[in-house]
Amino acid sequence: MDYFNYRDGELFAEDLPVSEIAERFGTPAYVYSRATLERHYRAYDQALSGRPHLVCYAVKANSNLAVLNVLARLGAGFDIVSAGELERVLRAGGSAAKVVFSGVGKQEWEMKRALEAGVRCFNVESDTELDRLNAVAGELGVRAPVSLRVNPDVDAGTHPYISTGLKENKFGIDIAEAPGVYARASKLPNLDLIGVDCHIGSQLTSVEPFLDALDRVMALIDSLAEQGIVIRHLDMGGGLGVTYDQEQPPQPSDYVRALAEHLGDRELELVVEPGRSIAANAGILLTRVEFLKCTEHKNFAVIDAAMNDLIRPALYSAWQAIIPAKPRQDGAEKNWDLVGPVCETGDFLGKDRSLSLQPGDLLAVRSAGAYGFVMSSNYNSRNRPPELMVDGNQVHVVRRRETLDDQLAPESCLPE
Ligand code: LLP
Repeated sequence: MDYFNYRDGELFAEDLPVSEIAERFGTPAYVYSRATLERHYRAYDQALSGRPHLVCYAVKANSNLAVLNVLARLGAGFDIVSAGELERVLRAGGSAAKVVFSGVGKQEWEMKRALEAGVRCFNVESDTELDRLNAVAGELGVRAPVSLRVNPDVDAGTHPYISTGLKENKFGIDIAEAPGVYARASKLPNLDLIGVDCHIGSQLTSVEPFLDALDRVMALIDSLAEQGIVIRHLDMGGGLGVTYDQEQPPQPSDYVRALAEHLGDRELELVVEPGRSIAANAGILLTRVEFLKCTEHKNFAVIDAAMNDLIRPALYSAWQAIIPAKPRQDGAEKNWDLVGPVCETGDFLGKDRSLSLQPGDLLAVRSAGAYGFVMSSNYNSRNRPPELMVDGNQVHVVRRRETLDDQLAPESCLPE
């Protein structure tokens, strides 16, 4: 559920008509809803309230400082994949003690920064990363808290580019080899082995693959106990899907309750790393129709947002709803391809959408709060859009629109 709804024939973001937001700030523009972010985070947190747990929002989904700050105020933890994301969390008021650090390629300086800040756990993805972390912790004279990210080899049934828990993926340590890697890690002096971690993919629409992974991870935890390695922290990663179109994923509360029930009375801290299911439907991308171009074969609506602003349709053939700010009642609907101004055939945000359109119409691309702005670029030297956050009947600029000077500032010509 989100707070982008029609009232009297007009789309609202919480208590503001999106047309007013577009007039004030221009288009394209990302608009987030604070109430929606809070609602989604709380759904996870409250469903786990009976047991030790930590909801670590996956910063990569939407790393705007205001988004992180809204969640930090609710006591959220954070899942990061770089020192840059750690810096954002800290500047947004998040607590390092609630940060888990994931990712296959952590550099030494990033490990050092995270150890100095005092993160809760490193999700280590390979044997060689263990050695690097052990060395960096040794130099600092500290012990690094570690979970090994295991690859449970389950099929998440999602798009191959965002499926991560299969043997052929680059992520994690093969679960069959994990006992050996734990045994070796337990001998490294500067590591504190506290947990097991897995993440099997993104946009999953049923709980079965998660439960399947959990069964395998619990069996691993039991065999580690026999080796004398006691695991206290179990991180099931992120990956719960959202409704973009007709998908019917479980609600966050049902999903985490299923995990908790499966765990029974084991004394483990349950960690989850949701990104999309918190942020996606808490954001829209506002865009205006520039031109209508009807050919013999196709009707194109050229809009002012493009693949550089939102790349998911071009990159994954992702489908996101595109709805009018003020639906026309003239019955003149046609099938439109909504294309941007970038010079690529793949520059579309939607295809074959039945809409009644006129130049100047305002549209909203839904479910754009996750993997939207964060994956944007300056391709074609386009300024990236602003990010705005609605809170009731207020709207705040949480990232201003880029200017050409912003874009060009880091560049220079060759000397004379
Ligand atoms: N934890 C780890 C270790 C991850 O790799 C990810 C996402 C998450 C948590 C958060 O997963 P979520 O709850 O958001 O599914 N750009 C793609 C999605 C890439 C996801 C990468 N990893 C998209 O736009 O669909």
